[in-house]
Amino acid sequence: MDFKLLLQPQRFVVALAIASLTFGSPTLAFMAGSGLTQLKPLSADFSEANHLSCALHALGNNYLDFNHLSNDNASDQSQFSAPGGQAGSRVPVIAGNWKLNPATVEEASTLLSLLASNFINHRGGIAAATPEVIVFPPFPYLERAMTLLEGTGIKVGAQNVGVESKGAFTGEVSPSMVRSLGCEYVMVGHSERRTLYGESDDTINSKIKLSLQEQGLKVILCVGETLEEYENDLLSSVVSFQIKKALQGISRDDIVDTVAIVPGTRLVIAYEPVWAIGTGKVATPEQAQIAHAVVRSTLQEMYGEDVAEKIQIQYGGSVTPDSISDLISMPDVDGALVGGASLTADGFTRIVDGAAASLSTY
Ligand code: 13P
Repeated sequence: MDFKLLLQPQRFVVALAIASLTFGSPTLAFMAGSGLTQLKPLSADFSEANHLSCALHALGNNYLDFNHLSNDNASDQSQFSAPGGQAGSRVPVIAGNWKLNPATVEEASTLLSLLASNFINHRGGIAAATPEVIVFPPFPYLERAMTLLEGTGIKVGAQNVGVESKGAFTGEVSPSMVRSLGCEYVMVGHSERRTLYGESDDTINSKIKLSLQEQGLKVILCVGETLEEYENDLLSSVVSFQIKKALQGISRDDIVDTVAIVPGTRLVIAYEPVWAIGTGKVATPEQAQIAHAVVRSTLQEMYGEDVAEKIQIQYGGSVTPDSISDLISMPDVDGALVGGASLTADGFTRIVDGAAASLSTY
């Protein structure tokens, strides 16, 4: 079975979707048998990874029980390459969206310090953090986050940006401002921005365009259907439409990352079904895979297969340490955008660890 089948004809995706919903696991068994699941492009040699129970450590009751990676293994860049040099190598990306939390800078500092401790003391810092890891604190905590996470390999992003670079726009924040702080990412189009603050597709499009003008800044574009849309079989058309509108006028050259060591793009898509956000109702891995295949198919239509293959697609909506492994085992699920579970250092680290551990199976 050629992966192109999944990417090219929308018909195949729809057929797979219907088959999955109708036949459930036999369809997944077919996918596995056909090699589709083998196409998860990330490979890391985690053969030396072992399970290490860590005690309470210096920064408080921050108990972790995770895969400990040896430094030799962790620092080997070859861990990022796909088995057999598959074209679509994608590093998984785990991001924590703190939303309007926590309430004070002191609490934020504690959370950041605990995270830093987890990554430096136990995960070996940047080298061992095999998935790309990003946190999105509220604006007032960004600079603190940059400072406290230095040397951990955890990147910092802004949850939102405005549509202007500078001038008389009270209360706004520009992409260049957050970039100048050292942020590598901005998040655009979260469903809470769309529904609570009336952000239109056009506004989202303007934000992405302005952000991509900033050298070194990458964009996480959030898309996803409501429950009503899902129940009316509108997932595919809604998600596809949101992507096309958000990326209107944005070219291949605008999104291909020409400076990255690992071939990639400056765009990440987060598929977040609105019905799964903050509800505790995580999408099943099969539901996520169907939606992610729609996302990739849309991206292929817009930018061609080579670019679409490089774009990381995250799942978001009630992700926990318990659900990450199954979700990320799907061929088009390249990470997670985590809300509630990113507000404790242990919860978030366990999710990162779950994503890292799943790589050892490829
Ligand atoms: P929860 O993980 O709390 O459902 O939030 C998901 C989300 O909106 C991340 O952006």
